Parts: sequence; C-alpha cells; structure tokens
Amino acid sequence: MRPKKVVAGELRADLIISSYNKMGCDAINIGAYDLSLGVDYLLKKEKSANFPFLSGNILDKHDKYIFTPSIIKSVNGIKVGILGLCDDKLKLKKIPGHDKFKIVNPMEKAEEITAHLKKEGVDYVVLLTNLKISSCRRLAQHGIPIDLIVGISKKSRISLPILVKETYIAHVERGGKRVGRLDVSFLDTTGVESLPLATRMKGKTVGEKLFLLNHFFPLLKTIPDHPEIGSMVEAVENELSRLQKANVEAELSVLQQVSATSSIAMGELANKQENSYVFAKACAQCHPGHYQRWLKTPHARAYHSLVEHEKHFDEDCVRCHTVGYREKGGFFDVSQAGHYANVQCESCHGPGRLHVAAKGQLKTVKEPSGVKICLDCHIEERSPEFNRETYFHNVCGCVDCKD
Ligand code: HEC
Ligand code: HEC
Ligand code: HEC
Ligand code: HEC
Repeated sequence: MRPKKVVAGELRADLIISSYNKMGCDAINIGAYDLSLGVDYLLKKEKSANFPFLSGNILDKHDKYIFTPSIIKSVNGIKVGILGLCDDKLKLKKIPGHDKFKIVNPMEKAEEITAHLKKEGVDYVVLLTNLKISSCRRLAQHGIPIDLIVGISKKSRISLPILVKETYIAHVERGGKRVGRLDVSFLDTTGVESLPLATRMKGKTVGEKLFLLNHFFPLLKTIPDHPEIGSMVEAVENELSRLQKANVEAELSVLQQVSATSSIAMGELANKQENSYVFAKACAQCHPGHYQRWLKTPHARAYHSLVEHEKHFDEDCVRCHTVGYREKGGFFDVSQAGHYANVQCESCHGPGRLHVAAKGQLKTVKEPSGVKICLDCHIEERSPEFNRETYFHNVCGCVDCKD
C-alpha cells in the first residue's frame, strides 16, 4: 500500500490542476511543496494541465531545463513575459529522484531569462516564485528588469505590494489563501481630492484620470465557493477524511497489539516526559475561579465543534481545537485526543505537571502576556473578527477571574 501522505498529496495535486484548469490559469511556478513527490511525477501531471509548469532554475544533470523557464502571453496587444524561479535553499534529500535534478542560483537565472524575454520584445515581466522577501528585494535592487514579483510567504501579512526600485513585490500567504482585486477609480475634475484620504494614501494615480488601488483579500468562509469547484473540493476533503480515519484505525490496532504483548499501557509514554499535561480539571483544585470561568468559554467546547463537523480525525483541524497536539508530552495520534480535547489552560500556560507537583511554587512554563499566544490559533483565516479587547474580556486572563 502506498503511504497515506503520498495518496493525500496526489489527491490534492489532481484537485489543484483540475480547478486551475477551470479558473483559466496562465502558468504556475514550481515551489517546495510541488516538488515533494519528485520531478518525474510533476512532468507526468503537467500533461493533464492546460497551463505550463514554469521553472527557470530546476535543471537536469546536464544543465538543461526540465520545465519551461518562461512564457510570453499577449494581453490586449501587450506582451507579458512570465518566468518562474524556485528557492535554491531547499533540502532535496527527501525528494524522490533527487539525484536527477538540481536547483541553481535564482539570481543568475533571473538575469539570463529576463534578458532573453527583453530580446523577444516583452513589455512587462512577471516573476512567480517561492523566494523569501529578502531575496526578492535583492533581485529588484540589482536592477533585474522585472516589473512584478508574485511570491508566497508563511507569515507575512503585507496586503499591498511594495515598490523596490522599479519592481513591485507582492507576497501573499501560501496555499492560495488570498485573491487580488484591482480597484480602478475614474477621476473627475477635482482629481484625487474627491477620494477619502485613507484611500489616497494606499493607491496610485496614473495619468490624470485614473486612480488604482490594489488589494489582496483573504479568502474567508463568508466568500461563497464557485459551485463546481466547491463540490470538487468537498469530494476530495471527504476522501481525505475517509483515508485519515482508516489510517488511524490501522495504527490503533497495531498499538493495541503491542501494548497487549508488552503490558505497557498506552499513554505511558507521555508520563515519562519531564513536564507534561495534567489537564484543566487538575488546575481547578487550586484555581477554581479560573476553571469555572474557562468552562463557560467556547475554548472548553472547541473539540465538540470538530466532532459536529466530523473533522475530529482531520490533522489540519485538531491542532487548534485541542491542547498539546504534536508537542512534547502531548499526543501525536489524532484518534487519541481523549483528555487533550478542547483548548485548555495548558494551551496558553504550557504543560503544568511540574507547576502542580510544586504546588504553584514553580512557575508555569509559558507566560501568556499579550496577544501573541492568541494569534497562534486566532489567525485571520480562522478568526477574522479577532479583536484584542473583546476577545480578551471573554476568556481566562481577564480581571474577572478569582483564585
Ligand atoms: C489555526 C488554528 C485553527 C485551525 C487549524 C482550525 N481552527 Fe477552527 N477555529 C479556530 C479559531 C481561533 C476559532 C474561533 C473563531 C472565532 O470565533 O473568532 C475556530 C472556530 C471553529 C468553529 C466554530 C465556529 C464556527 O465558525 O462555526 C468550527 C466549527 C471550526 N473552527 C472548525 C474547524 C475545522 C473543521 C477545521 C479544520 C478544517 C479547523 N476548525 C481548523 C482555529 C482553528
Ligand atoms: C486562551 C488562553 C488562556 C487559557 C485557555 C487560560 N488562560 Fe490563564 N491566563 C491567560 C492570560 C493571557 C493570562 C494573563 C497573563 C498576564 O496578564 O500576564 C492568564 C492568567 C492566569 C493566571 C494568573 C492570575 C491572573 O488572573 O492574572 C492564572 C492563575 C491562570 N491564568 C490560570 C488558568 C487556569 C487554571 C486555566 C484553565 C482553567 C487558564 N488559566 C486558562 C490565558 C489563558
Ligand atoms: C496545588 C495547587 C495548584 C495547582 C493544582 C495549580 N496551581 Fe497554579 N498556582 C498555584 C499557586 C499557589 C500559585 C501562586 C504562586 C505564587 O504567586 O507564588 C499559582 C500560580 C499560577 C499562575 C500565575 C503564576 C505563573 O506561574 O505564571 C498561573 C498562570 C497558574 N498558576 C496556572 C496554573 C495551571 C494552568 C494549572 C493547571 C495545569 C495550575 N496552575 C494548577 C497553585 C496551583
Ligand atoms: C490552541 C488554540 C487557541 C489559542 C492559543 C487561543 N484560542 Fe481562542 N479559540 C480557539 C478555538 C478553536 C476557538 C473556537 C471554539 C469553538 O467554538 O469551537 C476559540 C474561541 C475563542 C473565543 C470565542 C469567540 C466567539 O466566536 O465567541 C474567544 C473570545 C477567544 N477564543 C479568545 C482567545 C484569546 C483572547 C486568546 C489568547 C489569550 C485565545 N483565544 C487563544 C483556539 C485558541
């Protein structure tokens, strides 16, 4: 049987290609995640795509391009060159067939390919890449003639493109979580004065009549799905849930066999850790006020929300709706949430075994001052309404807690 991760990866790859076909995508750049099943796999998949897979710096052993380095598209008479570059800091060891290809310096290739595009007479050059913002800035500062760099970023929340020399750099979150929108205002005789100041600050006038404002919007749940693509996504999600559940059951039966023969109780492993989780009830003994207050918050029911949606076996959901998932002293198997269910005291204060053993004389391991701890889970995509004041008032850590 093929590993579950591979099956899941293939399902996702097929979904991305078929939905991009429907959306009318012009080109994609090959980044780190795309490479995880290997280059041969990608070449095979490219056949089912109506768009090219670009990469100007993934080369074979003879320094030949494996993928198309760049394309030229004509849009209303304007020639647009699109090139793709992959971060060369990638560790290739784990990628199948990693000895058959290499990733070379993106800076040099950028120079070479843009020179070629300019010779072909393109008016506008777009780079698609997974390079870090700092490397993109370097490309722009070097004066490589790229008009727009579209990158991805795990953390950055830059929603407006930045201008470095002649190049606009736009970094959006990975995983297609944002969609771009360009607002065009037609100015009357009063010019930009007719627009609110805040709008004026963010956009740019072009000539005398046009004002442009570019945004990247997060794809929130409130934005309706495309009916066809929505049902394609749902079908794949259901298949993934089914796979995950089957996998968990298989792992569980192996574990049960092992523990039956060696008489090691499951969960023993966690007890051996120096510090570990003791769960909310254990805190109640000395902090009854905090406990009573916590019980009334949605945090205490967070796992139930997953159960209701039959998502409690989904690795992508469990992390924020439990305590200690994939943490030292925590749990690693989604079917073993048990006492780890819900967002508990120790989600914010860290594992508390040592604090309890020392009757409070040893501090808890995390000091959740400020809003940082909340933003681990209250990310924009999941908690768009997050607001420091009201959210703090409604959970533990507020002045109303006694004991
Ligand atoms: C990055 C952390 C994170 C992940 C991952 C996550 N959630 Fe949540 N979830 C939250 C937060 C935070 C809230 C509270 C949102 C609010 O009200 O501000 C929430 C609320 C919810 C709610 C209750 C509120 C509602 O809108 O109905 C449900 C149901 C839910 N999540 C399901 C899921 C499912 C299903 C997944 C996996 C596909 C998931 N969550 C993954 C953090 C997360
Ligand atoms: C969502 C995160 C979160 C959860 C869940 C949480 N706390 Fe807190 N807790 C905080 C924050 C934030 C503070 C304030 C820290 C500060 O101001 O420096 C705090 C403060 C405290 C304090 C210090 C005294 C005080 O009131 O300022 C105690 C004791 C405490 N929490 C106990 C608990 C217990 C017991 C639970 C579970 C029943 C719990 N907390 C659940 C975030 C949380
Ligand atoms: C046996 C009693 C006892 C238990 C059980 C207990 N605590 Fe405490 N806790 C204390 C005492 C006593 C203090 C005050 C220490 C001081 O101020 O010197 C304290 C202080 C704290 C504080 C504020 C100081 C700090 O360490 O940051 C937090 C937060 C806290 N406890 C969280 C928890 C959590 C979470 C749990 C459950 C995992 C828990 N406590 C269980 C006795 C206990
Ligand atoms: C471990 C992840 C996690 C952390 C850390 C976390 N939350 Fe949450 N929070 C959630 C989830 C998940 C929900 C949704 C619970 C549900 O309804 O299923 C939620 C819900 C809430 C809600 C209820 C929102 C509503 O729709 O009514 C508030 C308020 C809240 N959190 C405040 C905070 C604050 C303030 C912090 C930081 C001190 C914090 N949370 C830290 C995961 C987290």
